[in-house]
Amino acid sequence: MREAKCVIVTGAAGKLGRAVVGKLAKPGVRLLCVDRKVEGLEPFVSALPSGAEALTFAGADLRDPVTAMIMVEAAVDCFGGVDALVNTVGGLTTGRAAVDPSDKWDALIALNARVALVTSSAVLPVMQASRYGRIVHIAATPGLNAGAPQAASKTAVIRLTESIAAEHRADRITANCILPGTIDTPQNRATTLDVKTTAWVSADSIARLIAFLISPEAAVVTGGAIPATGME
Ligand SMILES: NC(=O)c1ccc[n+]([C@@H]2O[C@H](COP(=O)([O-])OP(=O)(O)OC[C@H]3O[C@@H](n4cnc5c(N)ncnc54)[C@H](OP(=O)(O)O)[C@@H]3O)[C@@H](O)[C@H]2O)c1
Repeated sequence: MREAKCVIVTGAAGKLGRAVVGKLAKPGVRLLCVDRKVEGLEPFVSALPSGAEALTFAGADLRDPVTAMIMVEAAVDCFGGVDALVNTVGGLTTGRAAVDPSDKWDALIALNARVALVTSSAVLPVMQASRYGRIVHIAATPGLNAGAPQAASKTAVIRLTESIAAEHRADRITANCILPGTIDTPQNRATTLDVKTTAWVSADSIARLIAFLISPEAAVVTGGAIPATGME
């Protein structure tokens, strides 16, 4: 069974992205750590344990298809291919899309749905050529229902993931997305008052789930929108 040895992690300077890079960084795995941020990415990657092979691709706005293509070309040049894409770029805001259209709606569609589409489109030809690939996007539980219209961009990530899985099953490419509720981050603790944190999940636990989804053991798991809301 083939293992994912060359992995692109997007949003690598973010809270979940760092946990994913930390989990995957081990001898034999080559990581391209990508983020729009420049500051923060390099020091974090430089501090990874010795033996971990990780390169940075900073200042990349992944809403842009050309940038995503250059990212993939960099991975192919440096690693010889791309086995897995773990896309953690994304975010949500509160509010009611129906009464707050225009800017917020467009920004969230671009941040979540467009980045998922653009990054997937960039890696798929390389994965198709090698007849192997693992794609993981991060949606969110509000993307499942109509009670949170501002999360429609996450619904789009779920449907896109299903489409990629269906269209590329014969290429041995799997596509799954994860649905966190609230991730236990310092930022959420600082900004979310009077809410019980017992339902929150750690970034590390989601990183372990991602490591499973790109492992050989998960070869037949595809098209999934997997909740990450349980207790550790
Ligand atoms: N945190 C939660 O409670 C929670 C809950 C449910 C789902 N999720 C999902 O989990 C994923 C990770 O969340 P997180 O909390 O780790 O978010 P985060 O800390 O904001 O990390 C996302 C990273 O992606 C970068 N980024 C944003 N737009 C980009 C773009 N266009 N191109 C390249 N990089 C870009 C961000 O840079 P900037 O800082 O410069 O924007 C940031 O470094 C997201 O999809 C989020 O929606 C999070």
